[in-house]
Amino acid sequence: MTLKVVRNILDLRRETASWRAQGLASAVVPTMGALHRGHLTLVREGLKRADRVVTTIFINPKQFGPQEDLGRYPRTEAADVAQLEEAGAHLVFAPQPNEVYPPGFATSIVVAGPAKAGLEDKFRPHFFDGVATVVAKLFTQSEAQFAMFGEKDYQQLLVVRRMARDLDLPVEVIGVPTVREESGLALSSRNAYLSKAEHRQAASLYRILTQAAVKIKAGQKPTRATAAARRALTTRGFRVDYVAARNAETLALPREADEPVRLLAAVWLGTTRLIDNIAV
Ligand code: PAJ
Repeated sequence: MTLKVVRNILDLRRETASWRAQGLASAVVPTMGALHRGHLTLVREGLKRADRVVTTIFINPKQFGPQEDLGRYPRTEAADVAQLEEAGAHLVFAPQPNEVYPPGFATSIVVAGPAKAGLEDKFRPHFFDGVATVVAKLFTQSEAQFAMFGEKDYQQLLVVRRMARDLDLPVEVIGVPTVREESGLALSSRNAYLSKAEHRQAASLYRILTQAAVKIKAGQKPTRATAAARRALTTRGFRVDYVAARNAETLALPREADEPVRLLAAVWLGTTRLIDNIAV
């Protein structure tokens, strides 16, 4: 049996309504396609919690800035669907932009709190409003009880969780640990942009973050460790947007010695922007 792909909201609702009628719980895995093992892990984790998993594939124009890579973002739907079938997903929702944002669409979700931490938001000012708007729509369209999000996009995970709570959306947002290559490089659809040499070089991002985490754990002040990490990244040929130590739950600056800390970074390698984060 080939995995069913639906393109409009009505067809999606018809499928998910029949699941509910059978008493089956469902999980949604929102993606922009160009799927890799990271995405498939979200599907597998969804299958552990729910009877049915719907994966959405939609390159959301609202979360791209005018200078960003919307036009060249990889589009690999046939391969994506084959991988999703293999992973055991039950349904793919892959709408066209017009289905999600029909003419006259005029409503946006404006997020604050973790969305205004001075991290991704500082460099991509419209990003989280765009993400929150599409994710809220995907939640109400799919009516899933669980939603799977990667820790890879840590700030996004916190923003979506906050948004779902604030809007009383009846969905539990589940965070899934980052899937990495053996080198430590976090899997990302954007890794496809890297040349072979850049790909090798990219692995030092994780190494440098890990070294900073070790130092903070050993008692070094977070600001000192992140300053050293910034220098190491620059020496390695990265252009650094930010490297920061933050409270793992609020993304505020860490104040106490024993609070949970997350290290987050965004860097450029040539024309490719990479983000990563780890727990301290
Ligand atoms: P995308 O970048 O396709 O990622 C989809 C989901 O996969 C996100 O939850 C992301 O955190 C997760 N993911 C990506 N790489 C991962 C990895 N190496 N390990 C674990 N999880 C990983 O994030 C988006 O799309 C969009 O912003 C979206 C939420 C779909 C809204 O448009």
